[in-house]
Amino acid sequence: MAVWLAGRGLDVVAVDVSPAALAAGAELVTREQPPGRVRWVEADLDAGFPVEEGRYDVVVCQRFRDPALYPAMAAALAPGGLLAVTVLSEVGDAGGAFRAAPGELTAAFADLEVLAHGEGGGEAHLVARAPA
Ligand SMILES: C[S@@+](CC[C@H](N)C(=O)[O-])C[C@H]1O[C@@H](n2cnc3c(N)ncnc32)[C@H](O)[C@@H]1O
Repeated sequence: MAVWLAGRGLDVVAVDVSPAALAAGAELVTREQPPGRVRWVEADLDAGFPVEEGRYDVVVCQRFRDPALYPAMAAALAPGGLLAVTVLSEVGDAGGAFRAAPGELTAAFADLEVLAHGEGGGEAHLVARAPA
């Protein structure tokens, strides 16, 4: 996702705890040479969201779920910034510790303008905009 965003000209901060995941991304950048830049940050998100508040035009979190991070993800958005989140969901699945409860994303990001939201087939997604 980081390289895809950089391919559209964005300067990206990509956070992951795995050096292997970061190295794979960096290799992709070398191959594709996107117009935007990617800064790779090795960090454990269980310890918090290591980015500045109010700074980012886009915040993307795909298939990593930690409800404790939801407030920091919203706070990282610049005015009018876009948030895109995809998590595993209990909706359409058997449930479990790593899956979002029904309505979790819309409740967590109620202060944002929801542009798209869906739950089903074991997955939930939300796209929302911060107030301008
Ligand atoms: C299911 S993969 C999703 C990867 C990518 N976002 C995608 O959609 O293809 C989950 C990612 O979260 C990372 N991850 C897991 N626990 C983490 C943590 N505590 N802090 C930071 N990254 C973590 C893993 O290393 C892995 O790259």
